[in-house]
Amino acid sequence: MTTFWSTYICVLTIGSLIGLTWLLLATRKGEKPNGGDQTMGHSFDGIEEYDNPLPKWWFWLFVGTLVFSVGYLILYPGLGNWKGILPGYQDGWTQVNEWQKEMDKADAKFGPIFAKFAAMPVEEVAKDPQALKMGGRLFASNCSVCHGSDAKGAYGFPNLTDKDWRWGGDPDTIKQSIMSGRHGVMPAWAEVIGEQGVADVAAFVLTNMDGRKLPEGTKADIGNGEKLFATNCVACHGPQGKGTPAMGAPDLTHPQAFIYGSSFAQLQQTIRYGRQGQMPAQEAIQGNDKVHLLAAYVYSLSQDEPAQGENLSAK
Ligand code: HEC
Ligand code: HEC
Repeated sequence: MTTFWSTYICVLTIGSLIGLTWLLLATRKGEKPNGGDQTMGHSFDGIEEYDNPLPKWWFWLFVGTLVFSVGYLILYPGLGNWKGILPGYQDGWTQVNEWQKEMDKADAKFGPIFAKFAAMPVEEVAKDPQALKMGGRLFASNCSVCHGSDAKGAYGFPNLTDKDWRWGGDPDTIKQSIMSGRHGVMPAWAEVIGEQGVADVAAFVLTNMDGRKLPEGTKADIGNGEKLFATNCVACHGPQGKGTPAMGAPDLTHPQAFIYGSSFAQLQQTIRYGRQGQMPAQEAIQGNDKVHLLAAYVYSLSQDEPAQGENLSAK
């Protein structure tokens, strides 16, 4: 605030306080010695106007509010650039400073706990009920929007509780996925192999999965699809279509691994236009220690022994 506005506010506020105090004291009058009602001395049709002193409780309430405002304005910021002298705040009380103080308190309280877990291997942390509870809370507030509150994923967002991993399900890889984020890039194929090529290779991918059949009357050449797959897709999805975790290219051999759907129509859609799944990096937002807890929590979800932590889906 400029000095002008600061002065303007101070003069107005302090002036009003002084003015009100003066008004209160100047108009104060004592009670009549005989205790009867005082009147203004005129009457109209027998109606008189009283001129009694202010009730005591009202007078003292007014004095109270004046004292309160003076105290408030000394302790808290309110008078222009005056920051207030409330103890415990370096820079005066403000909502931001108040929040910062809470955060510092929380860090001081939970920091050592986070640090303790951060120094343990993820597998160990994943066995600690307290750690899983904390990880579960972090997951609920930061990850469930995309991965679902039960972490089972949704269309376009992978399930984190099964054994199908795009980038890998070992503790280090999970932590890496969360820390730095991931970007899966599946190129678009319509212009490269043509519309019939898309149908053929989709037909191959579909029938390559156990027990899956093409819809009745589909015009697609599975043999040609297999050839197209060998020339165009194995570089990323691997020779049997089993996936390449280093590239985030998923396993195309079981239906549950697909996040964009595994029906014939959905497969063609994916292959025709490509896909760009993005997992946002958390390192800058959460910091290493919280990501470590999150990694442990996520890791615990796909282990055969169900974890002892908070059960999110039961909330
Ligand atoms: C904005 C949506 C979004 C949010 C929020 C999000 N994720 Fe993801 N996450 C994704 C997507 C999309 C992918 C798949 C990326 C790809 O296509 O390879 C993914 C992938 C992952 C993977 C790798 C899965 C695999 O199969 O290898 C892990 C682990 C993961 N997320 C954990 C988390 C955690 C923990 C959080 C919370 C801190 C989180 N995600 C928040 C969208 C999100
Ligand atoms: C440059 C590497 C690369 C090539 C080449 C490639 N893919 Fe992909 N594919 C990926 C990646 C990475 C993903 C994951 C995209 C994502 O997570 O959003 C993917 C995803 C897919 C999916 C969707 C899986 C799901 O989760 O729903 C299908 C289907 C697919 N690819 C089929 C093919 C076919 C068929 C070909 C050959 C015509 C092919 N891909 C070629 C990298 C590749």
